[in-house]
Amino acid sequence: MPVTAQEVLDRWEHKQECLIEMLHDVQSDYNYLPREILEEVSGDLKVSVPKILEIATFYNAFSTKPRGVAKYNMLMCNGTLCYVKQSPLIIDRLEEELKMKVGEVSEDKLFGLETAACLGVCGLAPVMIINGEEVIGRITQERIPRLIEELRGRAEAEKHHPKERDD
Ligand code: FES
Repeated sequence: MPVTAQEVLDRWEHKQECLIEMLHDVQSDYNYLPREILEEVSGDLKVSVPKILEIATFYNAFSTKPRGVAKYNMLMCNGTLCYVKQSPLIIDRLEEELKMKVGEVSEDKLFGLETAACLGVCGLAPVMIINGEEVIGRITQERIPRLIEELRGRAEAEKHHPKERDD
């Protein structure tokens, strides 16, 4: 069962300064930020929905609409810090390995690739976030094939042992 607004508020003790953490929890369960949940959080924290949306849009790790159909939605940061640490080369490598462009979903529907302006974890640049929750920091071009291989393996394992998923 995906988390409810009340659960997320309780988890973070209804603290306004934990809004980002709350949004991460919601994003990771729903793969986007459902409006009803934002409204409930907004009412409880006394932060307007437009303000929450402004924050969510700034970070780009969040989506206000349900994201693509891919099993693994890769969000690669192309913000200033990640950019100077070679994120464009990593994006090129991802496109090459996945045989698709940014904004597309792979034919087997396993991978979606998007870029963001800043994911809010610049200290780990260059950074990728998978499905809004799995942060992969200091990623290198060389690591891409292994990462893709690993995710393929994970998807395969889940097919055979669906109960062993850890989510
Ligand atoms: S610039 Fe990439 S996380 Fe901020």
